[in-house]
Amino acid sequence: MSPLAVARACITGGAGFIGSNLADRLIAAGAEVVVVDDFRTGRHEFLASLRDHPRFSLVEGDVLDPGVLEQAFTGCDWVFHLQANADVRHGTEHPRLDLEQNTLSTSGVLEVMRATGVRQILFSSTGSVYGEPEVFPTPEDAPFPQQTSFYGASKLACEGLIEAYSTGFGMTGVVCRFVSILGERYTHGHVVDFYRQLKRDPTHLGILGDGKQTKSYLYVVDCVDAMLACVDRHAGESGCFVYNLGTNETILVDESVRIITSHLGVAPEIEHSGGIRGWIGDSPLIHLDTSRIRSLGWSPRVTIAQAIGHTLDWLDDNEYAWRDQGTRYQEQRGSSR
Ligand SMILES: NC(=O)c1ccc[n+]([C@@H]2O[C@H](COP(=O)([O-])OP(=O)(O)OC[C@H]3O[C@@H](n4cnc5c(N)ncnc54)[C@H](O)[C@@H]3O)[C@@H](O)[C@H]2O)c1
Repeated sequence: MSPLAVARACITGGAGFIGSNLADRLIAAGAEVVVVDDFRTGRHEFLASLRDHPRFSLVEGDVLDPGVLEQAFTGCDWVFHLQANADVRHGTEHPRLDLEQNTLSTSGVLEVMRATGVRQILFSSTGSVYGEPEVFPTPEDAPFPQQTSFYGASKLACEGLIEAYSTGFGMTGVVCRFVSILGERYTHGHVVDFYRQLKRDPTHLGILGDGKQTKSYLYVVDCVDAMLACVDRHAGESGCFVYNLGTNETILVDESVRIITSHLGVAPEIEHSGGIRGWIGDSPLIHLDTSRIRSLGWSPRVTIAQAIGHTLDWLDDNEYAWRDQGTRYQEQRGSSR
C-alpha cells in the first residue's frame, strides 16, 4: 500500500476480529488509527499491542450515538466501517437487530461523515447479499434473485445507502463483499463452533445440515491486504466501487471438520442434522468470482486448509477467545427483539 493512501483512519468495530487485524496493519503502514467500539463482541486483548502506540487512539462508545462518531471521525480521511451484528445465523429470532446494528448504524456513519467532512468509506459487506444466486462463481454484477437472511438484506441496504451518498455527495465508497474470514482473533462462525464443541466433548460432534454445504473462506491477512488494495486503487475517486473478496477455492463443511478433528487428534461420532442448509439463510454453495479484486494485482497467499490451520493454532493458544465468546454474541442478540 502507498503510505499516502490513508493518513488517519477511523475503524468502527476496530476491537473485533477483522477490525483489530486491520488496525495493526494500518499502524504498521504508518497511518494514524482511531478505533471506535463498545466491546460488545470486540475484545480489549485484541488492541493490547496498540494501546500505547502514539498513532493509536480509542473512542469507547456506541456507534449509534452521533456524538461518539463525531469525536472519532474528526480529522480522518477514511472510515473503515466494520461495526455490525456480524452473526448471520439467528436473524429470524430478532428481526430488528440487523436493521439497527447494520442498516441504521451505517446511515448514522454516513451522516456523521458528511457532518465532519470525511469523504471516503470502506464498508465490510458480505457474500450473503447474493442470497442463493444462480451463477457460480458469483460475480459482483450477478442478480440478487432472493434474499435469504436478515443479515444479508440489512447489508444490501447499507450498500444502497453508500452508493446513494457516493453519487449524491461525490464521496468515495468502497464496498467489499467478504466470504467467511478465518485467522488470528477469529471468534465466531462454524470453525470455532466445532472447535468449542469438541473441546467440551471430544466423543460427539453435531453438524447443522448434511455436511455437504460448500463454503469459501479467506485468511484475515489476505482480507486486509485486499481491502487496502481497493483503498489504494480508489482513494480520491468519487463513486461506489464493489469488490468480492474471496478465493477461487471451496471446501465442504465435512472436509473442514476432518481438518479440525485431525488437528485436535479426536475421532468423534458425527451427527448431521440433515438437509442441504444448516439453518434458514445458510447457503448450500458459496463461491464468489474474484477476478475484479485480482485485477488490482491482489491474490490470496494462503489456501483454505492453511487458513483453517492458522485459526486452530490461534484458538489453541487463546482459550479466552473461544470459551466465553459465544455468550457475547448471545447477549447481543438478547438485547434486541
Ligand atoms: N467474519 C466474517 O467472516 C465476515 C464475513 C463477511 C462480512 N463480515 C463483516 O465484517 C465486519 C467485521 O466482522 P468481524 O468478524 O470482525 O465481527 P466482530 O463481531 O468481531 O466485530 C464487530 C465489532 O463491532 C463492535 N460493535 C458492534 N456493534 C457496535 C455498536 N453498536 N457500537 C460500537 N461497537 C459495536 C463489536 O464490539 C466488535 O468489536 C462486520 O461488518 C461483518 O458483518 C465478516
